[in-house]
Amino acid sequence: MGLYVCFFVVFLMLYHGPCINGGITSSFVRKEEKSIDMPFHSDVFSHPPGYNAPQQVHITQGDHVGRAVIVSWVTQDEPGSSTVVYWAEKNNQKFKATGRTTTYKYYNYTSGFIHHCNIMNLEFDTKYHYQLGTGQTTRRFWFMTPPPVGPDVPYTFGLMGDLGQTYDSNVTLTHYEMNPVKGQAVLFVGDLSYADYYKFHDNSRWDSWGRFAERSTAYQPWIWTAGNHELDFEPSIGETKPFKPFLHRYRVPYKASGSTEPLWYSIKRASAYIIVLSSYSAFGMYTPQYQWLLEELPKVNRSETPWLIVLMHSPWYNSNSYHYMEGETMRVMFEPWFVEHKVDLVFAGHVHSYERSERVSNIAYNIVNGECSPVKNLSAPVYITIGDGGNIEGLASIMTEPQPKYSAYREASFGHATLEIKNRTHAYYSWHRNSDGYAVRADSVMFTNRHWHPMDDSTSKTE
Ligand SMILES: *[C@@H]1O[C@H](CO)[C@@H](O)[C@H](O)[C@H]1NC(C)=O
Ligand SMILES: *[C@@H]1O[C@H](CO)[C@@H](O)[C@H](O)[C@H]1NC(C)=O
Ligand SMILES: *[C@@H]1O[C@H](CO)[C@@H](O)[C@H](O)[C@H]1NC(C)=O
Ligand SMILES: *[C@@H]1O[C@H](CO)[C@@H](O)[C@H](O)[C@H]1NC(C)=O
Ligand SMILES: *[C@@H]1O[C@H](CO)[C@@H](O)[C@H](O)[C@H]1NC(C)=O
Ligand SMILES: [Fe+2]
Repeated sequence: MGLYVCFFVVFLMLYHGPCINGGITSSFVRKEEKSIDMPFHSDVFSHPPGYNAPQQVHITQGDHVGRAVIVSWVTQDEPGSSTVVYWAEKNNQKFKATGRTTTYKYYNYTSGFIHHCNIMNLEFDTKYHYQLGTGQTTRRFWFMTPPPVGPDVPYTFGLMGDLGQTYDSNVTLTHYEMNPVKGQAVLFVGDLSYADYYKFHDNSRWDSWGRFAERSTAYQPWIWTAGNHELDFEPSIGETKPFKPFLHRYRVPYKASGSTEPLWYSIKRASAYIIVLSSYSAFGMYTPQYQWLLEELPKVNRSETPWLIVLMHSPWYNSNSYHYMEGETMRVMFEPWFVEHKVDLVFAGHVHSYERSERVSNIAYNIVNGECSPVKNLSAPVYITIGDGGNIEGLASIMTEPQPKYSAYREASFGHATLEIKNRTHAYYSWHRNSDGYAVRADSVMFTNRHWHPMDDSTSKTE
């Protein structure tokens, strides 16, 4: 009953107060075109030449602090070698690490041989080359390890979500690569291949996505979050193990943060502490994810990593009609902790549009007190929806009206974002829309750190 009264109150407020109007609903109009998947014969999906050549190469952080890298790749014809040969550019001394191989079946699809190799004890802030495969089909790549973890270490993250493999996805990735703001690692908020869009979840679309993304994922770590399109749960064809293709293909260093499942974990990288949550795993009280997060948040030492960032798939503050309120259950569980621990930024995807919130919280409600509207709270995070990677489902362009007060900027366009951490107090954030030139920042804010410099960094005019 209380809840109904509450909805009614919200309804009245929405329809009577001009003061409730929020920030900017961008007037930019993107031309309406369907997003279609690139066909298998597209250039971006080409197989590397040669028998059993390593393909779909991707790397991610392999430990808690950034001195390890997990290298993953697929060989299609036979297991081949699971060894990575690697060397620091500055001294050329070669090392070897050998990983493990796995395969899986999905309905009538059988995967290639999926290799995962964790290279450990790397030096910080060092360029490494690495080589996979044997003989004629050897392939060489490189990556940079991050600087040692520390409070004033500048570092730039790229942000993408819901990428898929359409022509628009390719434009998003190209804009990220061509952006003069050079991302050093990608925080990816879930929904990778959209293979589940196809009949029987044609897992060859997982393979083609791996080949498409390789031009970035082989050279810089992508920090993975699981989305709903990673579930691949399809009992009608006997596929009852959620996340099967994703978990076989993408590995994360979850044990290093005391997690018991790869779907939620944390890493430190430079001056940031990144917590990854799973919107599609249990998070109610007493569940493993709940228990882990409860113990995890107090471990964050802001003197070491000032920037506390959370990634999840389903957004908590979303004023698009698409997926409206889907993130509500998790918000109810965890939002008080985020405010208490002064999380700086929360990035989510899922909604195929862009939105940035002000610093608000909605934690006062207790069923009977009627306090059920978001209020400005400078201890609260800014929530950013960056699910605008350009996948086959197209744009989510219908917004709830009027724009709620908590919403600072929203726009239905494809794009990506960058977060340039400058030092412990300042981080410059920008959203870049695909329709603009590479250097254009369509929405930018200088965020100030909630622990070290908790100023009012809001951008809407609030009375
Ligand atoms: C899987 O089954 C579908 C439908 O029967 C068929 O079109 C497809 O070619 C099969 N794929 C494989 C790899 O056998
Ligand atoms: C994808 O983008 C790259 C880089 O801009 C370009 O070379 C390639 O031709 C594009 N492929 C497709 C299928 O659009
Ligand atoms: C937090 O990190 C700082 C800087 O590394 C260190 O001096 C301090 O001991 C740490 N605090 C705790 C409680 O571990
Ligand atoms: C912001 O949240 C904190 C932590 O829960 C709380 O103490 C404070 O009263 C809140 N401020 C407002 C304006 O609600
Ligand atoms: C931190 O970075 C901001 C933005 O670049 C700059 O204005 C500020 O002076 C820096 N703080 C320190 C202590 O260097
Ligand atoms: Fe999604």
